[in-house]
Amino acid sequence: MMFTKAVAALFLSALAQTGMTYAAPLEKRDVYSPPVLYPHTGTVWYSGQTHNVTWDNSNPPTSISNRAFILLRQGNSELPVVLAHDFDLRAGRVEVEVPDVITGNFSIVLFGDSGNWSEDFLINGPIDF
Ligand SMILES: *[C@@H]1O[C@H](CO)[C@@H](O)[C@H](O)[C@H]1NC(C)=O
Ligand SMILES: *[C@@H]1O[C@H](CO)[C@@H](O)[C@H](O)[C@H]1NC(C)=O
Ligand SMILES: *[C@@H]1O[C@H](CO)[C@@H](O)[C@H](O)[C@H]1NC(C)=O
Repeated sequence: MMFTKAVAALFLSALAQTGMTYAAPLEKRDVYSPPVLYPHTGTVWYSGQTHNVTWDNSNPPTSISNRAFILLRQGNSELPVVLAHDFDLRAGRVEVEVPDVITGNFSIVLFGDSGNWSEDFLINGPIDF
């Protein structure tokens, strides 16, 4: 009983602190998830190559709150393969090295907020099935 109350008190106090933090914002922060321009339909990459992933950076917010990273995606699944991370989302491009994959159609996801993915394109890997 006392333990439960103590936990509840801690929880409420944490909530109160969170509320206070958000109640006094220093600046407006925006999540940003711009559309990917390259790679796109018809793009062919080979494992081991380096390419610039590019995105439309024409309307960047002044402050970006989300952490930038790029994942590889196949079908409807985001793969736990990080192609790039912690780059500047305003730059509109970042170099990635194409990983070893089983040859197939992939897309890349730029995070971004909830993530914005490219069109499907082909990666030629060292293994064909
Ligand atoms: C990526 O873009 C930058 C800037 O345009 C360029 O210097 C670099 O060579 C490009 N990298 C590749 C792999 O094309
Ligand atoms: C990739 O997609 C294209 C177009 O849908 C298809 O013709 C091709 O067979 C696919 N390639 C592989 C390796 O899955
Ligand atoms: C990609 O970004 C554009 C512009 O921000 C947005 O309208 C679109 O819904 C996004 N697409 C996806 C798949 O998240």
